[in-house]
Amino acid sequence: MRGAAKVPIRAEVIARAAARLAGAGVAAPERDARLLYRWAVDLDGAALSAVLSDPATAPEIGRFERAVTARAGRAPVSQITGVREFWGRRFRVTPAVLDPRPETETLVAAALAGPPVRRVLDLGTGSGCILLSLLAEWPQARGVGVDISAAALEVAASNAISLGVADRAELVTGDWCAGLSGQFGLIVSNPPYVAAGELAGLAPEVRLHEPLEALSPGGDGLDATRRIAAGIGALLAPGGRLLIEIGPRQAAAVGRILAAAGLAVSAVLPDLDGRDRVVLVEI
Ligand SMILES: C[S@@+](CC[C@H](N)C(=O)[O-])C[C@H]1O[C@@H](n2cnc3c(N)ncnc32)[C@H](O)[C@@H]1O
Repeated sequence: MRGAAKVPIRAEVIARAAARLAGAGVAAPERDARLLYRWAVDLDGAALSAVLSDPATAPEIGRFERAVTARAGRAPVSQITGVREFWGRRFRVTPAVLDPRPETETLVAAALAGPPVRRVLDLGTGSGCILLSLLAEWPQARGVGVDISAAALEVAASNAISLGVADRAELVTGDWCAGLSGQFGLIVSNPPYVAAGELAGLAPEVRLHEPLEALSPGGDGLDATRRIAAGIGALLAPGGRLLIEIGPRQAAAVGRILAAAGLAVSAVLPDLDGRDRVVLVEI
């Protein structure tokens, strides 16, 4: 007589998955296996630790294995779980938007270091992580988020609702500054800035799973910044501030682009790794 199949304990299931992810070239396989298991069983980190030696159930193994298969195909964890934490809040993430990056929090921190404004413009809003974080921090502010991607704006709209700021966020389909009017005390943008020649060197999570229009405008990577610089003059209110995210080696080139548009760089701000990340213009 054959015995009943052995039920694996959760820690074993996670360890096997971590080995599979390591074999697929995932950079932090143990961390990701744990994150995906937490998601599969809907537990936070501490709660999962307390039940790691319990037997895994068949439904949770099925959900986890599907997630691990996606991760082994190098889908980002945020696209599998559908969520990314940014500036202390949870944002919905889909393949239609850039996965909000920790370095973009540098731009949010710089914005919040200045005085609150009544009107914010976010060019290339994507998931809405920058604009909606600012609106959540500044209850008196209203904002406009522009994106060329209607699918991205649908994600931003759902994030605006879940963060309780939808009544103060106007999300519009558009091509950078074209058709915008009025003036804004703060303009923010994290434009696509990867040079065409650098795309092949990006991690598969980025290159294969994130929208190309969110990553690169082609060429030297600066065309989006050129278009923004050329278009924002009339949109920036007197005494206003502009914050643009840049690639770590783009500060000098972006300074020249802004100067050609009559805008002087006040500061180049580093991210937490000390790399140039955000250009500030104060007029
Ligand atoms: C680097 S992502 C930034 C997304 C989000 N703001 C963030 O920081 O995570 C750039 C965004 O610009 C948008 N975009 C690309 N070309 C555009 C254009 N011509 N006009 C407006 N938005 C554009 C992309 O769809 C994408 O959402």
